[in-house]
Amino acid sequence: MFEDASMQDTKVLITAGASGLGLEMARVFVAAGSDVFICDVDERALEAARGELPKIHTMLADVSNEDSVAALFQQVEKEFGGLDVLINNAGIAGPTGFVETLSRADWDRTLAVNITGQFLCARLAVPLLRKSRGGVMINLSSAAGHLGFAGRSAYSASKWAVVGFTKTLAIELGRDGIRVNAILPGAVEGPRIRAVIAAKAKTLGKSVEDVATSYEQQASLGRMVSARDIANMALFAASPAAGSVSGQALVVDGHTQQLV
Ligand SMILES: NC(=O)c1ccc[n+]([C@@H]2O[C@H](COP(=O)([O-])OP(=O)(O)OC[C@H]3O[C@@H](n4cnc5c(N)ncnc54)[C@H](O)[C@@H]3O)[C@@H](O)[C@H]2O)c1
Repeated sequence: MFEDASMQDTKVLITAGASGLGLEMARVFVAAGSDVFICDVDERALEAARGELPKIHTMLADVSNEDSVAALFQQVEKEFGGLDVLINNAGIAGPTGFVETLSRADWDRTLAVNITGQFLCARLAVPLLRKSRGGVMINLSSAAGHLGFAGRSAYSASKWAVVGFTKTLAIELGRDGIRVNAILPGAVEGPRIRAVIAAKAKTLGKSVEDVATSYEQQASLGRMVSARDIANMALFAASPAAGSVSGQALVVDGHTQQLV
């Protein structure tokens, strides 16, 4: 492990931590000695996460719901007595289809979870992060947060918003010693991307295999990235080893220049 990577006794809150990238981040932070609190909208997934990682704190909470987020932070204060790291991970894929086919409801829901959810959590986390010795916020964006993504305009718009939000908070909070970075994953192998690929194949009238191959080939490395790649970047970005890194869009996508 690189120097200064210890996250011993650091208090970490990961939204949507019961599965996918959030759960992988929980595993990595627990292994690094952190106290981890996860929230999610899926009670059964939370239960399974508690089974795997018995020491973690969990709560049912929807990041897009203001009352739910308020209750979450009350619980975090009660159980943790503070917070050192917020990982705004919750995000949904949103609708697939060209812009003229999208419904207002799907558009609004995508922005409500992917960017308003980060805002709702950030504004309650900041007073706690200010009291930390070195507060950190990490916001999950996407390769679609710096590239266009045909058929996924709601998702892409929400993920570009995350980058603007991140860079602005880094300026607002820098003097308080709080670092704010975004992580931009490329296509991550796993169940979520398989669902995205299936939806895309249907929209484009192509086979699932063809679309899957094009997802792999869109990266210079010729493959998708792993959940562990993203969790490792989050651990580095949260650690003292990244003590001078703030306001950055940290891209982990095997070098993807165009999203298919
Ligand atoms: N997986 C990828 O290929 C990929 C690529 C780029 C960016 N991302 C981003 O990374 C983040 C995590 O992605 P993932 O693939 O692990 O997601 P996922 O679809 O696997 O979902 C992870 C968890 O989010 C929870 N969740 C959904 N809505 C929620 C809400 N409103 N409040 C709280 N929890 C909620 C789900 O119950 C689930 O347990 C997202 O922001 C996503 O946009 C993922």
